[in-house]
Amino acid sequence: MIVKKVAQFWATFSFLTPSKCSGGPILAPTSEETMKAAITAIGGYVPEYVLTNDELATMVDTNDEWITTRTGIKERRILKPEEGMGASYLAIKAVEAMKEEYGVTVDDVDLVILASVTPDMPVAITSAYIAQEIGATNAYAFDLQAACSSFLYAVSNAAAYIESGKYKKVLVVGSDVMSSIVDYTDRTTCILFGDGCGVALMEPNEEGLGVQDEILRTDASGRDFLRIEAGGSFLPPSHETIDNKQHAIRQEGQSVFRFAVSRMADTSAELLEKNGLTGEDVAYLVPHQANLRIIDATARRMELTKEKVVVNIQKYGNTTSATIPLGMWDYRDKFKKGDNIFFAAFGGGFTWGAMWVKWAIDKK
Ligand SMILES: CC(C)(COP(=O)(O)OP(=O)(O)OC[C@H]1O[C@@H](n2cnc3c(N)ncnc32)[C@H](O)[C@@H]1OP(=O)(O)O)[C@@H](O)C(=O)NCCC(=O)NCCS
Repeated sequence: MIVKKVAQFWATFSFLTPSKCSGGPILAPTSEETMKAAITAIGGYVPEYVLTNDELATMVDTNDEWITTRTGIKERRILKPEEGMGASYLAIKAVEAMKEEYGVTVDDVDLVILASVTPDMPVAITSAYIAQEIGATNAYAFDLQAACSSFLYAVSNAAAYIESGKYKKVLVVGSDVMSSIVDYTDRTTCILFGDGCGVALMEPNEEGLGVQDEILRTDASGRDFLRIEAGGSFLPPSHETIDNKQHAIRQEGQSVFRFAVSRMADTSAELLEKNGLTGEDVAYLVPHQANLRIIDATARRMELTKEKVVVNIQKYGNTTSATIPLGMWDYRDKFKKGDNIFFAAFGGGFTWGAMWVKWAIDKK
């Protein structure tokens, strides 16, 4: 009987759509359906110690000229034990910088997502600790790992939560202490990586600013080309794995390079095309900073002039989850409200993707 009555109701009011929230039918479209998830404040932090190419040349058989021409990197930052420990330390510093720059509060954040390949420890989750330390005591938190695409995936998750109306103030953290997983006797990897953190606060936006579109992808054929072999369930830690240095990051540089150039560039161009945009419509590209030649290839494919491309690889190297938020942080004074900003990343897995964001911060 009740079922019949409900069916009659929907037949009578079929021009109404069921609401996403509880509370019965409402007229579409709702403001919730047009709601975007926008970045409303950002922060960044890098440790004080500067490891230059010249210092690396005293540790392994390399030189400044080789590193600069092959990668674009001149120096990187390293977190020394005397300054602090772990990804959470960098995150808390970056949140402090964001609060100081934008005057935002974070104790009312309701979700913290940590993008990182180097959390403080495998278990317990580091994001919960960050939430506690910044005073967001009512927040739900989780760690997310997608290699060098972690931050992009985390922003996508945050946007989905906000667009659904489930969470209203999300802190996305990209923090990595790559020096903790680099073998400083391996010249093919130790020159590439550095430590750092960037954070982004994300909130609902009714002006249509914020995340507009994205293309995210994975391909497990990359599993053999870039990885840390031991320490997971596949090969748990043992004396042997330690002796063989299997807890450090290893890669087949050329294979990763070829893959990165084609996938990151193609996907960024595909996202432009999908939305009827050209390079002229883009204010800035904030690409993952793994190699200057990969960044240049992506910019060429998107037909962007040099000044539209965020580059800070010379100062920080590849900080993995922190490259994109640190890029935003470094260029924050150049970005204007309404600007079309593109993110592009790739990483181990393989993982990769591109995202289109309309900048929402109106900095006076
Ligand atoms: C790692 C990378 C910079 C190496 O550059 P490359 O031009 O591909 O160089 P190759 O690996 O072909 O090595 C060329 C030569 O330089 C040598 N070499 C490697 N590292 C060196 C170093 N730090 N200093 C000096 N010589 C080095 C190699 O041994 C090789 O010598 P050989 O010709 O005598 O065998 C490049 O492949 C790269 O950036 N790949 C992508 C890596 C990446 O982005 N990873 C992170 C993904 S998020």
